[in-house]
Amino acid sequence: MSTSRDDATQTVVDTLKQARSVVVLTGAGVSAESGVPTFRDAQTGLWAHHKAEDIATPEAFASDPLFAWNWYRWRRSLVAQAEPNAGHYALAQMATLVPNLTLITQNVDGLHAAAGSESVIEFHGNLFDDRCDSCGVRSRATQHEPLDAPPTCNRCGVILRPGVVLFGELIPESLLRRSTQAAQHCDVFLSVGTSSLVYPAASLAKTALSAGASVVEINMEPTPLSGVADAAIYAPSASVLPALVAALQ
Ligand code: OAD
Repeated sequence: MSTSRDDATQTVVDTLKQARSVVVLTGAGVSAESGVPTFRDAQTGLWAHHKAEDIATPEAFASDPLFAWNWYRWRRSLVAQAEPNAGHYALAQMATLVPNLTLITQNVDGLHAAAGSESVIEFHGNLFDDRCDSCGVRSRATQHEPLDAPPTCNRCGVILRPGVVLFGELIPESLLRRSTQAAQHCDVFLSVGTSSLVYPAASLAKTALSAGASVVEINMEPTPLSGVADAAIYAPSASVLPALVAALQ
């Protein structure tokens, strides 16, 4: 007997089969089944324990860089142990089955690339980048244990920062432009595992809608996007995405 989830999956597969260009926007929910905490889960979310504005803003970082650094180092140590899940692998495979797939992620964990996705747009940066705001130098961190003092730039001596977008900062212009253009020109836009609350990432689905694309939400529960999405599947992405890929083959 057909279930509503089967029907929704078939609708999405039919839409994907006709698409000439597809955008996938992912959020923390895609990595939840890899053991990476989301931000807004009431019990396990990162913002259940800290207010974002106390730790992930330029002001918070400037007022106590060691505290902020050790929080990011803790997150690095968590993510360093995580492996991509079936949802990440399915998206890497989907790129070989549909034309012109652009993968945009709000996640900073690098798990899409680890699963084999190429040219991923890391909209909010990468957790493992160390960056100097003064001279622009970047390096990839390999040590994640707590620090006694914030790390400093070898060249200019100023305190380094993690290469992630903090609240109140702008998305790098080239990434925003590429993402917006992809959303404007796609036929199908999949919004996967994101609460659709954080802008400008959340505006990309609306850009795609305004340009006439079919917008599909995959999440555990409805979000502010749900009311305007063309289709929705409410189930874990690590099972929905492999099912879509299996049906596309
Ligand atoms: P959130 O924590 O806000 O939302 C995670 C979403 O994933 C929720 O809507 C959950 O219902 C859903 N979810 C949880 N488990 C899932 C699963 N197994 N399958 C499918 N969906 C699942 O995370 P984001 O939307 O990614 O920004 O948050 C956006 C931004 O806010 C982050 O990039 C970060 C954060 O503050 C910055 O750090 C700048």
